[in-house]
Amino acid sequence: MAKIILTGDRPTGRLHIGHYVGSLRRRVELQNSGLFDRIFVMIADAQALTDNADNPDKVRQNITEVALDYLAAGLDPAKTTIFVQSYVSELTELSFYYMNLVTVQRLQRNPTVKAEIKMRGFSESEDGSDNKAGTPVGFFCYPISQAADITAFKATTVPVGEDQEPMIELTREIVRKFNSTYAPVLVEPDILLPDNAACLRLPGTDGKAKMSKSLGNCIYLADDAQTVRDKVKGMFTDPLHLQVSDPGHVEGNTVFTYLDAFCKDEHFGKFGDCFVGRKSSFSFKNLDEVKAQYREGGLGDMMIKNFLAAVLEDTLGPIRERRAEFAKDIPAVMDMLRKGSLEAREVAAQTLAEVKQAMKINYFE
Ligand code: TRP
Repeated sequence: MAKIILTGDRPTGRLHIGHYVGSLRRRVELQNSGLFDRIFVMIADAQALTDNADNPDKVRQNITEVALDYLAAGLDPAKTTIFVQSYVSELTELSFYYMNLVTVQRLQRNPTVKAEIKMRGFSESEDGSDNKAGTPVGFFCYPISQAADITAFKATTVPVGEDQEPMIELTREIVRKFNSTYAPVLVEPDILLPDNAACLRLPGTDGKAKMSKSLGNCIYLADDAQTVRDKVKGMFTDPLHLQVSDPGHVEGNTVFTYLDAFCKDEHFGKFGDCFVGRKSSFSFKNLDEVKAQYREGGLGDMMIKNFLAAVLEDTLGPIRERRAEFAKDIPAVMDMLRKGSLEAREVAAQTLAEVKQAMKINYFE
């Protein structure tokens, strides 16, 4: 069986380093591994509209931003089909048929959607009266549309963050239900989680559980070098590490979480001088040695932050440069998306035809 990847992002903002370590970096590795027959990466504008119906400009603008982030991170349109969800209208059609295979009760149990409804203030008011918020039906159903995204391409592998686990589980249920009710047309996908625990969900610079635009705690791929340095300087560390000489905590210390996600041993050769100071100097060979010293005391937050800033710049600098290059020719970026969307549409149309045949709604063939 062909090995096929499908994954994607909602275009509601520029991508940040949480996206990078959580998914983007891995996608580029998978793309270049040669282990997959086809790779599809989707800009999920239709899904973004499920909770941004009143803000089409935001979604539209972010199509290009996200495409630039993809190209900058190293996705290559020659190897990966990058496309826009709404252009592939077959996905909407598939969603409508899958809706019959899922209960409202099943959707209501989806922990990710539950958390998102709460975060967005969509929940009903206490007395059950109709408040102005409420949950858009489209938003409530987006996990079903996500199953359509995945199955339309017969994806075997879906590289996503852990918060997407309930969506993949639902997709698998839909596939089993469809295949047993109609005919074995669809493929059950496997989730591919990030391999480094620090990357499962990178916290915000303020130490809060998640990087999010609304919390203002993100480092963006498009941020310039000075902005990244400033954001690192203001980062949350260990509130108990008041004096340099105090023993420090590494767990829950955001600076160390970022180092876990970005730091390689070679960085100590390159940026070791960050640990040379007026009062004390260290010569570390790897991150474990830094952690040990921090726990013991005597290692100041400033040194580690300087080191982290250098480590981040080592990764983000080249990405930023590539992004600026691609941004010089937006029509070329749009053309790449258009071509990818046409390609994606052909594949989805084939699956939809098989689905309709299995469902016996191919009356005129
Ligand atoms: N829900 C994903 C996110 O918020 C985006 C997405 C839409 C997706 N459809 C998908 C991811 C299909 C993987 C597979 O980032």
